[in-house]
Amino acid sequence: DDALHPPQFPWSHKGALSSFDAASIRRGYNVYRNVCASCHSMNRIAYRNLVDVAFSSDEVKEMAEETEVEDGPNDEGLSFSRPGRLSDVMPAPYANEEAARYANNGALPPDLSLIVKAREGGEDYIFALLTGYRDPPEGISVREGLHYNPYFAGGQIAMARALYDGGVEFDDLTPATTSQMAKDVSTFLAWAAEPEHDERKKMGMEWVATFTLLAMAMFYAKRFKWSVFK
Ligand code: HEM
Repeated sequence: DDALHPPQFPWSHKGALSSFDAASIRRGYNVYRNVCASCHSMNRIAYRNLVDVAFSSDEVKEMAEETEVEDGPNDEGLSFSRPGRLSDVMPAPYANEEAARYANNGALPPDLSLIVKAREGGEDYIFALLTGYRDPPEGISVREGLHYNPYFAGGQIAMARALYDGGVEFDDLTPATTSQMAKDVSTFLAWAAEPEHDERKKMGMEWVATFTLLAMAMFYAKRFKWSVFK
């Protein structure tokens, strides 16, 4: 299509041996919670997934308890609301698709759990999209309710620019510039789409180390055994 290709950014988790930046995931969750979550669900991520990744379990329990979850039926067959628990998924902003579209001019904000895998360019695309809002070039008229963004297929997106300098406050005192927030939320979404990423790379390293040792031992044993026939 006609969309601008996002540049490739030097993500610190992209190397063959590198793990996710935990501090960035932590800040990225802050951005998701305080900016994106008012329109986007993440129904494949539970609070407990955040434990030991970027928060302590006490911190996550407290975050979960601040939310109200519809549960039920109880013994009387009624639904009731209760404080959130570690096993609850991120609370959804809308009751259903109809309500979501109604609130967004007919457009549907997609669930963000797997968005990094679902879009070509992954986290590079998310970063470019979030920071790519600008005035349309001369001669392009933007339809009512849409916003110009050259990284979006078609160039006109129903989502307005969401990130502005100082939009959130980071508890590690990192200045919350637009690009910092975009980087951190993109890292958070990359982690969400592949929470087993670090474990996978660690296991890969262990396999390589194990087989290297094994191969060296076998090579030595072979030379030793066959030496009399030389
Ligand atoms: C679409 C991310 C905040 C409403 C999207 C898409 C992404 C995204 C990745 C998909 C674009 C595509 O299809 O390629 C984010 C992030 C946010 C955020 C990371 C926070 C930093 C918001 C907010 C709203 C919103 C606050 C509502 C006020 C929408 C809508 C769409 C959308 C309506 C569908 C756009 C269309 O299909 O034209 N968002 N978003 N988003 N978002 Fe957001």
